[in-house]
Amino acid sequence: MKKLLVMLALFIPALWFACGSESKPNESETEAPAKKEVPSSIAEGKGVGEITSVDLGTGVDPALVARGKPIYDMKCAACHKLDGKRVVGPGFEGVTNRRRPEWIMNMITNVNVMLDEDPTAQALLEECLTRMPNQNVSVSEARDILEFFRNNDEERLKTRDEAVK
Ligand code: HEC
Repeated sequence: MKKLLVMLALFIPALWFACGSESKPNESETEAPAKKEVPSSIAEGKGVGEITSVDLGTGVDPALVARGKPIYDMKCAACHKLDGKRVVGPGFEGVTNRRRPEWIMNMITNVNVMLDEDPTAQALLEECLTRMPNQNVSVSEARDILEFFRNNDEERLKTRDEAVK
């Protein structure tokens, strides 16, 4: 009995301490949005990930479009149409007018972090109720897909890249 009491006496403060130290990161997490500065990439609408700037060049590069299309057909078309209609995910029509190129490429290459941290991606998730899975797309493939989107907007809407103008 005495042994048990001693053990309890040792154990209870240990638990207390563990809870205390556990609640600290949570506290700072809930306070974070108010205190922490919003990362500039999010504030600028560029999303979260390794892509911080994209050179769009002058026109649409047909060589990149030609590489982007088969990737879209194979990895994206099941969930995304090229018109404005949502299937599982949003239709891609106008995507280069509503999102910056950096955001689009970060969404493609870093979707898990984007869905956890980027407010725009989170709002889409709330709308679509399905988490876009990681498609294992490289940065250079994502650039090809971006060009394919720019071409899609040019053909359908005659406007593209409005998000960076
Ligand atoms: C299994 C379904 C699925 C697949 C496959 C998929 N996505 Fe998505 N995608 C989504 C969903 C759902 C969203 C909305 C965010 C969310 O709910 O996760 C989304 C959002 C996006 C957005 C943001 C659209 C906007 O209007 O801002 C882009 C860009 C995107 N996906 C690109 C791609 C590309 C490129 C591929 C292929 C390499 C792809 N997705 C494959 C389901 C998918």
